[in-house]
Amino acid sequence: MCGIVAYAGPRDAVPIMLEGLARLEYRGYDSAGIAVVGRSGDLRVRKVKGRVARLADDLPARFKGSPAIGHTRWATHGEPSDANAHPHVSGSVAVVHNGIIENADELRAKLAGDGVEFASATDTEVLAHLIARAADDAGDLEGAVRRALTSLVGTYGIAVIDARRPERIVVARNGSPVVLGIGEREMFVASDLSALVRYTRQVVHLDDGELATVEAGGFRTSTLDARATAKSPSVIDWEPGQYDTGSYDHFLQKEIHEQPSAVRRALSGRLDTRFHTAHLGGLELDARQAREFRRVKIIGCGSAYYAGLMGAQLIEELARVPAGAEPASEFRYRNPVVEHDTLYIAVSQSGETYDTLAAVQELRRKGGRVLGVVNAVGSAIARECDGGVYLHAGPEISVASTKAFTSTAVVLALIALHLGRIHDLSPADGRRIADGLRALPEQIEEILAHEDHIAALARDLVRHPGMFFIGRVRGYPVAREGAQKLKEISYLHAEAYQASELKHGPLALVGPELPTVAVVPDDELFDKNVSTLGQVRARHGRVLAVAHRAGAVAENADDVIVVPKNQPELDPILLTIPLQILAYHAAVELGHDVDKPRNLAKSVTVE
Ligand code: G6P
Repeated sequence: MCGIVAYAGPRDAVPIMLEGLARLEYRGYDSAGIAVVGRSGDLRVRKVKGRVARLADDLPARFKGSPAIGHTRWATHGEPSDANAHPHVSGSVAVVHNGIIENADELRAKLAGDGVEFASATDTEVLAHLIARAADDAGDLEGAVRRALTSLVGTYGIAVIDARRPERIVVARNGSPVVLGIGEREMFVASDLSALVRYTRQVVHLDDGELATVEAGGFRTSTLDARATAKSPSVIDWEPGQYDTGSYDHFLQKEIHEQPSAVRRALSGRLDTRFHTAHLGGLELDARQAREFRRVKIIGCGSAYYAGLMGAQLIEELARVPAGAEPASEFRYRNPVVEHDTLYIAVSQSGETYDTLAAVQELRRKGGRVLGVVNAVGSAIARECDGGVYLHAGPEISVASTKAFTSTAVVLALIALHLGRIHDLSPADGRRIADGLRALPEQIEEILAHEDHIAALARDLVRHPGMFFIGRVRGYPVAREGAQKLKEISYLHAEAYQASELKHGPLALVGPELPTVAVVPDDELFDKNVSTLGQVRARHGRVLAVAHRAGAVAENADDVIVVPKNQPELDPILLTIPLQILAYHAAVELGHDVDKPRNLAKSVTVE
């Protein structure tokens, strides 16, 4: 979704803005813009509907200067258009904003009553006018921003410049990330680390309710009510090369292939060979506290939720503690009963998803204990939780989640092992699971080696208008994630069902036109799965089985993708990988923008 970049320093800021905005493209956007203070002290603004490349082509040669602010916009208030693109300007002030101003209509009416004329339909323009009006003759930009923000209800990450005070940028955060990047006598600002890694490793994350004045020589932070805050920089460990596709055609393909190394990192230093358990320092729970939880509830959105479904089964199986998963968006709106003996786990790759963040805040407000399973270090959700475990999957750029999904499932398996060994999981079973986890990276490599076979199946399957994905119990979250991947990037209709539910309704749709992708692990439900395949085939439905043994399902499937066998509890992680590859090649075959699917954003930072 929306992205912010800003720069204060001796260099021409415009190339830095264009580079930073290009780095933010992956988040999803529909327009882009830059405001810069020119060498002669004038404010210059260019903004266009469409891609950053179009903005770059549109810039006149004299569009140069410093400081500057830049933005990629994902429309919420007002359609995607040149006028609605950020920055928004009032007099000498220019503003870029991520988030939503909830009382924008009210403020707009008030400003219009005072004679202010609006150039856009956005909520952000309201803020630009409020700041310009709050600025006094002395040009105290920080004070003006502070005063303007007091009348605002909603979420924001903002960056503001004023051509009358060309040495500074004022930024503020409430619910939408703002990170400062510290350079050599220059400062950078971004809403996402990806825009900073080319320039600096030293960063400072603003907290909610914090404001900063940034100048080339440094920065100072304070709360909205002007109390100074002390911040110490942290060091980013993500490499700039992680933001390139390298030898792959797309980020999605690269990230699918990064899964063995991502899983190795998720496991690194976390398996205990003495007690056959997992060490997870960030949980902030001792064994006695962990035993007191009688239930586990996992919340997340999209693929994070499906990984949560997988994790809930793992926790229930290994720890024998009732566990379930629910979309965070639904959870927070149904006034959840928060129990003191339920352990809540919030799952999010980006750590920014607004629905998940708001659910965590609601849970903590009611006294619930929440752990985060998050990829982005220092992100809003990670900071909001009582404790947690980082994925260390590295940046995930493609909108459709793959390596973060797999790493989440692996981290939830570690939590399940840890809770299991505190409860009644035997040392022998603990060792079995730990060995299974260690085997995953090589087994994923084995699956990746069959990419060509899966690609050929994908090319064939896309001739159909849609597909069913079915799985039983452990296979069901696999089917959900498989269907999600396919619909996200190929735009084919894909629906996931519990295999047992097929005969209770969806079977009416089965026929030669609608193939079924069936998850058929070699477990105690194998025979039942095979009999479901028989029901599909009896209606002339085509079956693609993802199974451990080709021979065993061959009679009831048109095609089989064979996946190496691990432990039954961990098999779902491996069974998902071919479905990612299938979706990827289906989207490539159909000629879609694989990494930036239509209508979707990587981090959904609004409701
Ligand atoms: C968006 C993305 C999905 C993602 C979901 C949760 O909807 O399009 O691919 O699974 O957000 O994202 P998170 O960053 O919280 O894991």
